[in-house]
Amino acid sequence: MKLKIALTCPDADAAKPWRNALTTQLLALGADAEIALWPERFADPDYALVWGAGQGFLDAHRGVKALFTLGAGVDGLLKLDVPAAMPIIRIEDGGMAAQMAEYVCHAALRHVRQFDVYESAMRTSAAGGGAWQPLEPRRPAQFPVGIMGMGALGSRVAQALQAFGFPVNGWSRSAKEIPGVASFGGEASLDRFLQASRILVCMLPLTPDTRDLINRARLQQLQSPGYFINVARGAHVVEADLLALIDSGHLAGAALDVFREEPLPASHPFRAHPRIALTPHTAAQTLIDESAQQIAHKIVALERGESVGGLVDRSRAY
Ligand SMILES: NC(=O)c1ccc[n+]([C@@H]2O[C@H](COP(=O)([O-])OP(=O)(O)OC[C@H]3O[C@@H](n4cnc5c(N)ncnc54)[C@H](OP(=O)(O)O)[C@@H]3O)[C@@H](O)[C@H]2O)c1
Repeated sequence: MKLKIALTCPDADAAKPWRNALTTQLLALGADAEIALWPERFADPDYALVWGAGQGFLDAHRGVKALFTLGAGVDGLLKLDVPAAMPIIRIEDGGMAAQMAEYVCHAALRHVRQFDVYESAMRTSAAGGGAWQPLEPRRPAQFPVGIMGMGALGSRVAQALQAFGFPVNGWSRSAKEIPGVASFGGEASLDRFLQASRILVCMLPLTPDTRDLINRARLQQLQSPGYFINVARGAHVVEADLLALIDSGHLAGAALDVFREEPLPASHPFRAHPRIALTPHTAAQTLIDESAQQIAHKIVALERGESVGGLVDRSRAY
């Protein structure tokens, strides 16, 4: 039997590689599939794949067996009206965990080794002729890192940081047992987790419980001068509180990949801030081949009546 799969992407150029990769991966597993690129559509599709779905696409595919998102986060999708009974399945890692590890280790090491300070000193000294000045050495061991969110991505980042000698604390809803990581579970342990950390990394999903979680009261508990890295979602953070704490010196700076408004407006105070490093929501991008392979395996498993990972729990919103 030929599976009918509906796919929507922000533009046709992005959709075609997904269609090719998924067709190849399904064929490799012995499954024959026809994939329609929205607004092409089937009357009775089996599965739908969404990247930046609109309500029109969801309304046209209310009967599918499962809805696959082509990313790790589902906060955008859950703002839409998705039928309560429709299983939503997200990408688990799909090549993103290694990219997150690279991003967070780079940001943490850049801060600890003060490469940002050297870069700026070398630039300003080009005119003035000075500032060829090695600073006192600092070691990762002096900078305990607190990772908020120890899921598919956070747990991989923890491993990578440990390899550089960072002490690692992990905070999640349920406490974890990860070798070498001090684990904190649930809201009751949040203050202790923050007080034990100097660099804070946000890797949480955006849910009603985590929106605005990172505010002045929470950031103030970090060991000072602390540092903040956000690779999750902008709405986790009260941006004015973060700025105030950097300007007061309680935080030495921040590396931010995500923002409350994206693209980050040209006039936003983060743009020109000397102690904030910015990237355009690119810390970890979905890799098509890895992700298509994962989705193909899950479709085949679902067709066999088996359960699959990455099923979104609608009551938790992640
Ligand atoms: N910037 C980028 O380029 C980019 C790329 C990909 C993903 N992301 C973001 O990264 C997020 C994390 O992805 P993931 O795949 O690692 O997600 P995941 O596997 O679902 O892990 C989420 C983690 O957060 C914890 N958590 C959720 N709600 C919590 C709460 N209220 N209090 C404490 N801990 C809580 C979970 O705890 P339990 O383990 O106890 O359930 C889990 O450890 C995504 O949702 C997405 O927003 C960003």
